[in-house]
Amino acid sequence: MASFSLFLFFTFMTTTTALLVLARGGAASAAPLYSDSRWVVNHGGQRVKLACVNWVSHLDAVVAEGLSKQPLDVISKRIKSMGFNCVRLTWPLYLVTNDSYASLTVRNSFRRLGLVESIAAFEAKNPHIIDLTLIKAFQAVVKGLGDENLMVILDNHLTRPGWCCGNTDGNGFFGDEFFDPNLWIEGLTKMATIFRGVPNVVGMSLRNELRGPKQNVPDWFRYMPKGAEAVHAANPEVLVILSGLSFDLDLSFLRNKQVSLTFKRKLVYEAHWYGFSSGQNWVTRNLNEACGQGQGFPLFVSEFGMDLRGGNLNDVRYFHCLMAVAAELDFDWALWSLVGSYYIREGLKGTSEVFGVLDEEWSRLRNGSFSRRISALQSPFRGPGVSGGSAHKVMFHPLTGLCVSGVGPLTLGSCSDSVGWNYTNQQIVSTKKDTKDLCLQAAEVGKEVRVGNQCLDANSKWEMISDSKMHISSKVVIKDNNSTVVCLDVDSNNVVVTNACKCLSTDPNCDPTSQWFKLVDTTRA
Ligand SMILES: *[C@@H]1O[C@H](CO)[C@@H](O)[C@H](O)[C@H]1NC(C)=O
Ligand SMILES: *[C@@H]1O[C@H](CO)[C@@H](O)[C@H](O)[C@H]1NC(C)=O
Ligand SMILES: *[C@@H]1O[C@H](CO)[C@@H](O)[C@H](O)[C@H]1NC(C)=O
Ligand SMILES: *[C@@H]1O[C@H](CO)[C@@H](O)[C@H](O)[C@H]1NC(C)=O
Ligand SMILES: *[C@@H]1O[C@H](CO)[C@@H](O)[C@H](O)[C@H]1NC(C)=O
Repeated sequence: MASFSLFLFFTFMTTTTALLVLARGGAASAAPLYSDSRWVVNHGGQRVKLACVNWVSHLDAVVAEGLSKQPLDVISKRIKSMGFNCVRLTWPLYLVTNDSYASLTVRNSFRRLGLVESIAAFEAKNPHIIDLTLIKAFQAVVKGLGDENLMVILDNHLTRPGWCCGNTDGNGFFGDEFFDPNLWIEGLTKMATIFRGVPNVVGMSLRNELRGPKQNVPDWFRYMPKGAEAVHAANPEVLVILSGLSFDLDLSFLRNKQVSLTFKRKLVYEAHWYGFSSGQNWVTRNLNEACGQGQGFPLFVSEFGMDLRGGNLNDVRYFHCLMAVAAELDFDWALWSLVGSYYIREGLKGTSEVFGVLDEEWSRLRNGSFSRRISALQSPFRGPGVSGGSAHKVMFHPLTGLCVSGVGPLTLGSCSDSVGWNYTNQQIVSTKKDTKDLCLQAAEVGKEVRVGNQCLDANSKWEMISDSKMHISSKVVIKDNNSTVVCLDVDSNNVVVTNACKCLSTDPNCDPTSQWFKLVDTTRA
């Protein structure tokens, strides 16, 4: 994750740098995995959607966070019960390349940092791990996740252990103080070798958030394929995941040149997307544009997230947009983060992670409504083997993570019980019931939307309006021959209604999101 001081830089970059994000997909079962056009698939060619959470293990202690709070198996089960199928587990290069970490045990690592309380607590919760060396402890965490059938992506987050990432922290790009390309390849090779034959390790992210004054496209093409080849040679089973430039916001340079590798069906690109890294409009625009380019590789949005206390308006707004795009593009992803609190971060002991899904004791959800909201994104909407139904659409509501379901009245419910819809050239939102063709019909302002068979009337014609294209609007007759434009909305009883369209003017204080719906392609039953 980029450190806070960089937020302004991000804002600047995002207005000047074209972001290319390649759409993609992937989710939950047996290794090894492959890439197949824009999807991650299993051996049988079926889509496996990566629905991961980041678990931090690259800070000063070089130990997966939280093990002083809860036993490993409890945390692993918790990850599973929250609906994730995978963990992006971060590691610093020094874990396997620097002698001073090679024989260090967890206990001694904590001692070195003065984390006396953590030692006692860790010993109580995870006595079988505390006297392991750091790499053995890391392997124990991977094993613990495997015991819960959770896939693992190993992410080389930086070189020297510590909080990441800044422009001038010496870890940003090939040739920086702590980023020797040869050492990097050596470390990747070691890590790939250690986890060869460990079936739940399905991928390796080669380097997190390339950045800084030294970054340039020729060196990206010079070194990234070398890293990829080294990993593949040491461990041909894993997906090789490459990040872009500018803190993983920019893959646009791939438009003109492709990576040339000796192996096939293993390449995945990753990108990051935070509220502080993007204004929603340009992100939406470029995501769509990029998806249209069909570069033909999966995209793993390996970091995104928000302050889960909900008090940061910029985050709150960005996240509506992220939800909509994540559903529409159905890409693979890893949420930032699992972490409730850190052993020590930037010199402060016990720092809370406000982006973390677990609370400071690593026991309860930090924000239950947030966790429910993202659950719709944990299953694939489409892709090879995602079937049961014919191609249709669901009407996704980004604000809640729910879909329009139930007929009479229409309400919001789980996207897996959603009504199937089509959107026709005549702008009719159609559905089938007992082989009958029905359609969505606007009623008066504030009234329930109906499903009927008078599909040629004006109130059966729906348009996507506003800049977001997420207002779904129709016209209804209010009096005599007078009609008014209304938009789909949800009332306080969770019933889908039509109301006057909100926030079509440019008022920045207006919140339109109860009226945002996204028609998402799916083949789910
Ligand atoms: C190994 O790590 C220590 C502690 O972070 C650091 O001071 C030292 O420079 C590193 N050695 C090498 C060869 O990178
Ligand atoms: C959870 O997040 C929502 C906004 O996303 C916010 O309104 C709410 O207050 C948060 N709840 C807690 C317990 O932080
Ligand atoms: C949507 O259209 C597809 C293709 O025309 C059709 O097979 C499917 O039955 C339709 N689904 C619904 C819910 O109308
Ligand atoms: C409404 O429009 C129809 C057709 O244009 C017309 O016949 C009818 O008289 C109009 N009614 C009123 C109340 O204006
Ligand atoms: C239509 O509605 C507008 C605005 O409410 C009103 O000014 C106008 O008189 C109405 N026309 C008819 C024919 O009712």
